[in-house]
Amino acid sequence: KKYTEEELYRPNFHFTPKKGWMNDPNGLFYYNGYYHLFYQHYPDSNVWGPMHWGHAISTDLVTWTEKPIALYPDAKGYIFSGSAVVDLKNTSGFGSLKNPPIVAMFTYHDPVKEKAGAVDIQSQGIAYSLNEGLTWTKYEANPVIKNPNLKDFRDPKMTWDNIHKQWLMVLAAGDSIFFYASKDLKSWELLSDFGKNIGAHGGVWECPDFFPMLIDGSDEYKWVLLVSINPGGPNGGSATQYFIGDFDGKHFTLDTSFSQDLKEKKSLWIDYGRDNYAGVTWSNISEVDGRKLFVGWMSNWNYAQKVPTQKWRSSMTLPRELTLVKEDGHYKVAFQPVRELQNYVSKTIKKETLKITKKTVLIDKSFVDLSKIDIRFNLSNLKNDVYTFSLSNSLGNTIEFGINKKDKFFFIDRKKSGDISFYDDFAKQISKVAFTKDFDKMDVRVVIDKTSIEVFYDNGKTVMTEVFFPKKPMETFSVNKGNFDYNIENLIINQLNFN
Ligand code: FRU
Repeated sequence: KKYTEEELYRPNFHFTPKKGWMNDPNGLFYYNGYYHLFYQHYPDSNVWGPMHWGHAISTDLVTWTEKPIALYPDAKGYIFSGSAVVDLKNTSGFGSLKNPPIVAMFTYHDPVKEKAGAVDIQSQGIAYSLNEGLTWTKYEANPVIKNPNLKDFRDPKMTWDNIHKQWLMVLAAGDSIFFYASKDLKSWELLSDFGKNIGAHGGVWECPDFFPMLIDGSDEYKWVLLVSINPGGPNGGSATQYFIGDFDGKHFTLDTSFSQDLKEKKSLWIDYGRDNYAGVTWSNISEVDGRKLFVGWMSNWNYAQKVPTQKWRSSMTLPRELTLVKEDGHYKVAFQPVRELQNYVSKTIKKETLKITKKTVLIDKSFVDLSKIDIRFNLSNLKNDVYTFSLSNSLGNTIEFGINKKDKFFFIDRKKSGDISFYDDFAKQISKVAFTKDFDKMDVRVVIDKTSIEVFYDNGKTVMTEVFFPKKPMETFSVNKGNFDYNIENLIINQLNFN
């Protein structure tokens, strides 16, 4: 069978634009029953170009409806990444209490100035919407934050800081983060900066996010700062690091245990796969259900413009629920796919304890469609050995992931996953994340959607997300033979279905 690009590569339940280029998620907000997703978009080509904000909406974060383009480039420049908030008290005066305005802040990137060799090419502009994000009016006094003579000065992320009762905004400035506050979303005061000599600095800092989170199981909270960086990710290219600390309304200071973790590890990452970048969280949600929800761009600047799709390029990760966990005095952010995915389960196959003594096919295409599936299991009796799980097809395409307990790392291996020719370094190396603590049990969750794998280990405290391009759909899910016997317990295979 000859597969069309749509059949083979268009994800079933990860957002992709109908046509054209997409990168970062932007302007995420929740309002009146809808989750809004805007995104860096160039509708006229499948590579990056003059940036627009595309728009899509969803009631459950899984099924998305594309809406008309929300923001177009104008005489002041391209519309780079940014955020949106619901101005419930109409502090901006753009709307009314009865119809609160949605206010977006984005970066203007001026290509004319750039061509002329100027440094101050990026500034921050705002726009507002009085019809739930469908159409927008740009503020006539833009920019609201001028460029202080920094080449990289972008990606404003606003939040209502309910602890200090202020609008807060973080911005990537060179390779540090600037913090700003405002009363009316129009005039912004620079409070402080963060990041010099802290964390990973292998590339420019981009797309920050900053928010408080309750520590799981307590009523204490800490502030979390996300910072995307390109290049310099743990497995090459783009990736997102995070920091945990305290915020007094003006200054962010790292938690002491987190500073120790940084000394040891240099940086902590929200995802150790190569395809989760520029991710940020939804605003205006905590009032609704208390969840912290995140989505990332499921690609990498190393090869995003070369992946083998023509009609559209890139998709988003599955939206994820964040929790902040404290273990042995150390903090970590943990991730799980949004619980709404459960509503799409059309069939569940459960297996009790399996003792693995030889290479074993756990499930194949006669039972399930492996191109849309959510699998969970627990491993036990793990020894000093290598545990490899693989999805494969009859062409010999295979995507592998697992745990190397000999050399102490989790991995994804896409070396033989199908089309890898479009970028030299797409699959030369496996992706790894080292672990230090030993274990003999491990919980695993893996979500597959045609061209993507998202693996959650240890209750989501270690995540790996990658894309791959098989030449026909995957047909079997199997596990290798170890040198020692081990067990797979509580295997749950959830077939997902979308119409
Ligand atoms: C991150 C990024 C942002 C910028 C946008 C431009 O991927 O480089 O810093 O605003 O993409 O499309």
